[in-house]
Amino acid sequence: MVNNQTIRILISVLIIVSLFIYMMMMINDRDGEIEILKNDAAEIRLELIERADYIRTAEEERQHLDVMQYQKSQALFQANATAHTRLENMLKLLNDQTRTAQFLEHDVQRLEELYRRVVESQMILERKASELEHAIVPIVVLTCNRSFYLSKCLTALEKSRNQSTLPRHYHPIIVSQDCDDMLTDNILYRDDDEFLAMDLVAWRHPNRTKLLYPYQSISRHYRWVLEEVFKLGYSTAIIIEDDLQVSPDFISYFDRMHPLLLDSKQNLFCVSAWNDFGQYNTLPAQPETVLDQFRRTDFFPGLGWMLTRTFWLEIRDHWPESYWDEYLRQKNITHGRHCIYPDIPRVKNLGELGTSGETIFNNHLSKMISNNITINYQNISIFNLFNENYKKEFEKEFTVARYIQFYEIETFKLKNETLKVFYTSVPDYSHYANIMGILNDTREGIPRSSYNNIVRIYYKSNILFLAPINSFG
Ligand SMILES: *[C@@H]1O[C@H](CO)[C@@H](O)[C@H](O)[C@H]1NC(C)=O
Ligand SMILES: *[C@@H]1O[C@H](CO)[C@@H](O)[C@H](O)[C@H]1NC(C)=O
Ligand SMILES: *[C@@H]1O[C@H](CO)[C@@H](O)[C@H](O)[C@H]1NC(C)=O
Ligand SMILES: *[C@@H]1O[C@H](CO)[C@@H](O)[C@H](O)[C@H]1NC(C)=O
Ligand SMILES: *[C@@H]1O[C@H](CO)[C@@H](O)[C@H](O)[C@H]1NC(C)=O
Ligand SMILES: *[C@@H]1O[C@H](CO)[C@@H](O)[C@H](O)[C@H]1NC(C)=O
Ligand SMILES: *[C@@H]1O[C@H](CO)[C@@H](O)[C@H](O)[C@H]1NC(C)=O
Ligand SMILES: *[C@@H]1O[C@H](CO)[C@@H](O)[C@H](O)[C@H]1NC(C)=O
Ligand SMILES: *[C@@H]1O[C@H](CO)[C@@H](O)[C@H](O)[C@H]1NC(C)=O
Repeated sequence: MVNNQTIRILISVLIIVSLFIYMMMMINDRDGEIEILKNDAAEIRLELIERADYIRTAEEERQHLDVMQYQKSQALFQANATAHTRLENMLKLLNDQTRTAQFLEHDVQRLEELYRRVVESQMILERKASELEHAIVPIVVLTCNRSFYLSKCLTALEKSRNQSTLPRHYHPIIVSQDCDDMLTDNILYRDDDEFLAMDLVAWRHPNRTKLLYPYQSISRHYRWVLEEVFKLGYSTAIIIEDDLQVSPDFISYFDRMHPLLLDSKQNLFCVSAWNDFGQYNTLPAQPETVLDQFRRTDFFPGLGWMLTRTFWLEIRDHWPESYWDEYLRQKNITHGRHCIYPDIPRVKNLGELGTSGETIFNNHLSKMISNNITINYQNISIFNLFNENYKKEFEKEFTVARYIQFYEIETFKLKNETLKVFYTSVPDYSHYANIMGILNDTREGIPRSSYNNIVRIYYKSNILFLAPINSFG
C-alpha cells in the first residue's frame, strides 16, 4: 500500500525534479540569450571599430586637404607675387625703352636739324667763296613802248632792291628798249634826283627793224639782250618785262634761291617768280599761310625769272624766231631739269595791253594774287628744295593723299584734306582744269606748274593733286 507519505514524497520529488528540469531549461535558455547578446556585442564592437577607422581616415583626409589647400594658396600667392613683379619689371623696362626711344628721336631730330644747317652753311660758304665771281646779278627789264607800265615796274623794282640785304650794286638794273617810243625815252632819260638815284643802265636794241609779228620782235630782242648781258661776264641774270610789278621780296627771293640755281647737282634751269595757278581760287583762303612755300616744276613759268650763263650758252644756238618761252618748255631743251617757283607769285601782271591779249588777262591774270609784304628769307630753308629731298617729300605727300573721283570734289569743300584725282589723258586733264577755271594747256603732255606731270594746287580748302593715272606706280 502506498501510503500518502510516499505519494507526497513522490509528488515532492516530482515537483522538485520538474523544477529542476524547469530550472535547467531556464538556465539553458539564458545561456542561449547570453550567447546571442554576446554575438550582438561582438558585432557592435566590430561596427564601432569600423566607424572609428572611417572617422580617423576622414580626419586624416581632411588634414591632408587642409595642407594641400594651404600649399595651393601659398603657391597661388607666390605665383601672383612673381607675376606682379615680372609685370612691374616689364612695365619699368617698357618705360625705360620708351624714354630711350624719345631721347633717340630727339637726338635724330637734332642731328637732322644740325645736318640741315651744316648743308646750308656749306652752301652759304661756297657762295661766299665765289662771291666776287658770282654774286652780282643784274636785273634786265625788257621794254618797248608801254611807258605807263614801265614807271610802275621800275619803282617796284627799286623798292625791292631797297629791301634786299645785299648792297644795291649787287643788283644793277639794265633796261633794254626795243622800240623808238618818246614816252619811254622820257622815263629812261629823266634827270631828277629820285630817278638818278636808281642809277639805271639804259640799253637800246640796235636792230629795231619792224618784223611781221610782235612775237618775232620779242624773241629777237631776248636773244640780243641775253647775249649782251652774259658777254659782260655775269654768271646769272634776272629777266623781267615792263608790264610786271615785282613784290617787295622779289630780289630777296632770287638771292635766297641763287645758290640752288648755281649748284649743277640741283637739276635746275631757272628760278621763277610766277605761279601759273597762283590765283585766288587755287590758293588757300589765307594765302599768307603759304608765303614760304616754294616748289619745283617741269614747265617754264617765265614772268620774272633767273637763268645762268651756262644755260644760255647751251641753248642760244637754237634760239627760235618767235615764241621764245615755248622754246624753254621743250623737253629737248629742259632735259628733265626744273624751275623753282613760289606758291604765291612775286610779280603782278599790270594789265592786258600787250601781246597775250585781253582774254587771258580777264580769265586768269586778273585773278592772280601776288605778295605785297616784306619777307625775312634768313629763316626760309631751301633744304626741302634740294632735288632729292623735294622728290622724296613730294612722293610722300602724294602717296598719302586721299584718292577721289573728280566729281566728288564739291563734297570735300572746307574739309582741309589732301586729295588726289587721276586724269587719263590730256583732254581729260583740260576738262578738269576748265571746271576749276585754271589754264588748261599742256606742252608735250606737261601741264603748267606740274612736277612729273602732277599738278598740285589748293582747291576749296584742300590740297589737290591732279595726276596722270599710274603716277608713282
Ligand atoms: C595679386 O597681388 C596683387 C599685388 O601684390 C594684389 O593687389 C592682388 O589682389 C593679388 N591677387 C590675388 C588674386 O591674390
Ligand atoms: C607798241 O609797239 C607795238 C609793236 O611794235 C605796236 O604794235 C603798238 O602799236 C605800239 N603801241 C603803242 C602804244 O605805241
Ligand atoms: C630806296 O631807298 C632810298 C634810300 O635808302 C630811298 O631814298 C628811296 O626812296 C627808296 N626807294 C623806294 C622805291 O622805296
Ligand atoms: C636784225 O634782225 C633781223 C631779223 O631777225 C636779222 O635778219 C638781221 O640779221 C638783224 N640784223 C643785225 C644787224 O643783227
Ligand atoms: C626739239 O623738239 C622739237 C619738237 O618738240 C623740235 O621741233 C626741235 O627741232 C627739237 N630741237 C632740237 C634742238 O632737237
Ligand atoms: C596786299 O595783298 C592782300 C592780299 O592780296 C590785300 O588784301 C591787301 O590789300 C594788299 N595790301 C596792299 C597794301 O596792297
Ligand atoms: C630765325 O631763326 C633764328 C634761329 O634759327 C631764330 O632765333 C629767330 O627767331 C628766327 N626769326 C624769325 C623771324 O623767325
Ligand atoms: C578747315 O580749316 C578751317 C580754317 O582753318 C576751319 O575753320 C575749318 O573748321 C576746318 N575744317 C575741318 C573739317 O577741319
Ligand atoms: C582750254 O581753255 C580755252 C580757254 O578757256 C578754251 O577755249 C579751250 O576750249 C579749252 N581747251 C580744252 C581742250 O578744253
